[in-house]
Amino acid sequence: MIIVIDFGSQYNQLIARRVREQNVYCQIEPPDIDIERLKALQPEGIILSGGPASIYEYDSPGTTYEIFALGIPVLGICYGMQFMVNALGGNVSRAEKREYGFARLQVQKEDALLAGIDQNTQCWMSHGDSITSLPDGFEVTAVTENTPMAAAADPDRGFYGLQFHPEVEHTLQGKQMLKNFLFEICGCSAEWTMKAFAREAVSEIRQAVGDKQVILGLSGGVDSSVTAMLIHQAVGKQLTCIFVDNGLLRQNEGARLKKIFGQHLEMNIDYVDATKDFINALQGISDPEEKRKIIGKIFMDVFEAEAQKIENAEFLAQGTLYPDIIESRSAFGGPTSIIKSHHNVGGLPEKMKLKLIEPLKFLFKDEVRKLGETLGLPEELVWRQPFPGPGLAIRVIDEISENRLEVLRRADAILLDEIRKAGYYRKLWQSFAVLLPVKSVGVMGDKRTYENILAIRAVTSVDAMTADWAKLPHDLLGKISNRIINEVQGVNRVVYDISSKPPSTIEWE
Ligand code: XMP
Repeated sequence: MIIVIDFGSQYNQLIARRVREQNVYCQIEPPDIDIERLKALQPEGIILSGGPASIYEYDSPGTTYEIFALGIPVLGICYGMQFMVNALGGNVSRAEKREYGFARLQVQKEDALLAGIDQNTQCWMSHGDSITSLPDGFEVTAVTENTPMAAAADPDRGFYGLQFHPEVEHTLQGKQMLKNFLFEICGCSAEWTMKAFAREAVSEIRQAVGDKQVILGLSGGVDSSVTAMLIHQAVGKQLTCIFVDNGLLRQNEGARLKKIFGQHLEMNIDYVDATKDFINALQGISDPEEKRKIIGKIFMDVFEAEAQKIENAEFLAQGTLYPDIIESRSAFGGPTSIIKSHHNVGGLPEKMKLKLIEPLKFLFKDEVRKLGETLGLPEELVWRQPFPGPGLAIRVIDEISENRLEVLRRADAILLDEIRKAGYYRKLWQSFAVLLPVKSVGVMGDKRTYENILAIRAVTSVDAMTADWAKLPHDLLGKISNRIINEVQGVNRVVYDISSKPPSTIEWE
C-alpha cells in the first residue's frame, strides 16, 4: 500500500488513481494523520502531494517529521517536495511569480526514479516557491530552464522529490516515474486487482454482518447496483434491496430491474410501487426545488416504512464513493461539503439505529465499474448513464401529469434506442429527453396540429461539474426527431439543446 498525504492539490485524487492503475493499493490521508495509525497501515511508500500553500504561510499544512524516520521511501511532489526539503534542512525561497505550464525537463542523473526516462522530456510545472538549497545527502537529478532543482534525490534514505507533477498527462513520462517509485524504490507488487478487492470486501462484509439482515436502497444506478452485488455475494438472502418505484422512472425500468436483480441475480428484492403517493403529492407543483423536496420526503417515508418491516435489520448499505469521502474532509480545495446523502436515505441510519456498510468508499467511479464487471453485473447496468433521483419529474418541465410523463417516457425510449444503436451511449455522460410546457403549430398529413415541444439533451462530461453539449451527427439527430414525431402522439416538434454547463446546467430543472 502507498499512502498519499493530502496537502490539498487539485491533483491528489489523480495521484491515487495513477498508483492504483498499476494495481497497487493507495489511500489518501490528511496531513494530521496520527503517526501510529500511519505505521499500522504498513505502507511500502509515502507520497507527499502538491498543494496550493506556501510553506511560509503561517498555517501551511504539514505532517509530522516522524515520517522521515520510518525507513520508508518518500516521494515529494511540488509542495510535498518543498515540505520535505524544508523539513530535512534545505532551503525554500519565496518566488516572485508562479511557474506554471509546460517545461523541458533535462535529466542529469538517471537514478532509480528517473530510470528509463528520456534525457530531454516534457513536464508540467505549477509552483510558486522554489528550492534554493538541498538537505545533506540530496543531489539534483533533473533541471528545467527556470528550475535548477526540478528533481532531486537522496537514494540512501529513499527520499525523492519532483518539483513538477508526474501524475498529470502533460508530464509525458510521469507514469514511468511513478512506476519506478512503486516497483523499483518501494518494492511494491502489482497485486491490487478488482478481483482481489472483491474477495477481501466479501469476506469483511460477511464477518461484520454475521447472521443479521442488511437493507439497501436500490436505484438501478451503478453505485447501488455494485454495492448490492458485493453484499449479495457476501451474505446472499440476508440482503434485502428496497426498490421504490416512484412512477418517475423511464420506460420499462422498474420491470427490467426486477427481472435482472430478482430473477437473474436471485436477490431479495422488495419492490414497492409508490407511484400514486408521488404523483399525487406532485399535483400542482411546478417549482423544481419544491418537486425535489417532496420527492425526497416521500422516498424517505416509503423507504423507512419498508425497512421497518424487515426483522433483524441491523445494517444499511450505501454506495458512497471515495471522492465523496476525500472531498468532505480535504484541507483545501474540494467543496467544503458534507458527504452527499447519496441514495436519499441520509438521516435514516441514526433514526433507525442502523449501522452503515459502505463497501465502495475507497473506490473511484471507474473502479466501481470495473468491480461491477468483475462481479458479473450486466453491461447495461455497469455502463449506465447517471439518472437523477427525482427522475422524470424534473424532465417534465413545470407541472407533471401521468399523461405528460408517458409522452416523455416514449420519446426518451426512442432517443436512447437510437443513441445506443449509433454507438454513442457510452461516449455520452448523459442523453435524455425533456418535455417542454410550450406548444407549437405543426402540420401532419393535411391536418394542422398544435402539440408539445420536446428537447433533446446530450452532454459529454467527466464529473458533471462542467459539461459540453455533444456534437451529435446531424443525421442521427434527424432520425431521432423523425421517429419521435412519427411515433409519439402529442409531440410535433423536436429541438436540440446546444448549451454547455456552465452557464446552463445539465438538467433543465
Ligand atoms: P445539473 O443539472 O446540476 O446536474 O448540471 C448535474 C448532475 O446531477 C444530476 N442531478 C441530480 N441527481 N438528484 C440526483 O440524484 C437531483 O436532484 C439531481 N439534480 C441533478 C444530473 O442528472 C447530472 O448528472
